[in-house]
Amino acid sequence: LNAQLHVDPSELLRKVPFFEQTPREEFNRVASKLREHTVPSGQDIICEGQAGDSLFLIARGVVRVVKDVDGETKQLNTLVAGQFFGELALLLREPRSATCRAVTPCALYELRRVDLDAVRSACPAIQHSLEEVARERHGRDGT
Ligand code: CMP
Repeated sequence: LNAQLHVDPSELLRKVPFFEQTPREEFNRVASKLREHTVPSGQDIICEGQAGDSLFLIARGVVRVVKDVDGETKQLNTLVAGQFFGELALLLREPRSATCRAVTPCALYELRRVDLDAVRSACPAIQHSLEEVARERHGRDGT
């Protein structure tokens, strides 16, 4: 683990808008489930078309979302600390809709489906925020 990239999970959770309304007990439970990853610049974290069972919270760094459209790589978005990605495959039960690539060294927290499901059912506000972001991103492929 790169010490420079280390972020306290509870600090991260406070930065993530959809955890704002999470009751403390639930929040602590989620924090204990997160797996920390450090990723070098240039590495793909999620690959378009693959099956996916996790979403990722960005603690540090920048992630670019790209998609293959008719054989060309289209840039869909750039995500920074406090944002998340990988929720669409979980909510829609579809393959990954895009590739998510570290464009700087990144510190990420991975939340797996089973843990997310527990949070969602315990906390309607999170469920609502996730769906809102997913709705905005879904199908927005720059075409
Ligand atoms: P998922 O489909 O699981 O894996 C790729 C992820 O890229 C997707 O979830 C979203 O989190 C993210 N993503 C896809 N399209 C966009 C977009 N237009 N803007 C921002 N993020 C996106």
